[in-house]
Amino acid sequence: MPPPILVTSRVPSSVLTRLEAVGEVDLAADGLTPEALRQRVAGKRALVCIVTDRVDAAVLEAGGDLEVVANIAVGYDNIDVPAATSRGTIVTNTPGVLTEATAELTWALILSVTRRVAEGDRLIRQHGWKGWALDFMLGMELGGKQLGIVGAGRIGRAVAARAPAFGMDVAFASRAGRQAPSDDETRMPLDQLLVTSDVVSLHVPMTPDTHHLVDRRALARMKRSAYLVNTARGPVVDEAALDWALEERLIAGAALDVYEREPEVHPGLLGRANVVLAPHLGSGTRETRTAMADLAARNVEAVLGGKPPLTPVIPVPPLGESS
Ligand code: GLV
Repeated sequence: MPPPILVTSRVPSSVLTRLEAVGEVDLAADGLTPEALRQRVAGKRALVCIVTDRVDAAVLEAGGDLEVVANIAVGYDNIDVPAATSRGTIVTNTPGVLTEATAELTWALILSVTRRVAEGDRLIRQHGWKGWALDFMLGMELGGKQLGIVGAGRIGRAVAARAPAFGMDVAFASRAGRQAPSDDETRMPLDQLLVTSDVVSLHVPMTPDTHHLVDRRALARMKRSAYLVNTARGPVVDEAALDWALEERLIAGAALDVYEREPEVHPGLLGRANVVLAPHLGSGTRETRTAMADLAARNVEAVLGGKPPLTPVIPVPPLGESS
């Protein structure tokens, strides 16, 4: 009997075909509630899931036959990895294939918030534009400014690689033990990065160490003229603290792609002109989403075929202040 596979999201037909070649696919094209996930996962040997699926101990218990949980995402904070590991279930993610798309979206946000693009768009649609003026809607120029990148993994580095095109200097704060991307790039403690950067962009995974990494204290360290960009995970930023910092004008603005309680956004942020809000689009290109789903399917194919997974998740080292 072909191994049963639960897929919790619509996937490209090429990916479905790949999965159908290795097992019996149960496709929940419109997603599943937590309760429905627990029910549908029973008896399955593989689960292909997305970031909004919480694969906790109860789901893993219900899916007692699961050999692999293949997350269509690079982040896997939605999965209880220790619980999976202790049951002998392999967890895989999709590193690499979404790096460039997420870096591009990060730059879209940096440019949008510093040059007030979304704010200007809203103004025009509300018939508020009265015409060109020398001092109208001025933003911050990027040339000669410091881009502070928190997290020197694949995505942080891809964001940094694009900085010279805008004449920005890059500084990294990253986890202890990680190498600086190259000798000619600057690495500094997080505190120093917050104090000296004109744009602070977050590229760390969600772990207990990074929960509310950007809190009131961190925001108060930033320049009043600086911008915060988050394309990592919502809970890395304390949204209430961010709302406070914006109210107190402790920073110039923020651009967010991720939120603490998606799809909800802190109500204080919704009314702020100097905040750009994107609906978790980091990896959202047709090319990348297809590649992500395909990599998840190839992980399932490998594990169910008795081979090692292509991209098993790796434990995350703690964030080192002094690195
Ligand atoms: C998306 O948020 C991902 O982690 O891939």
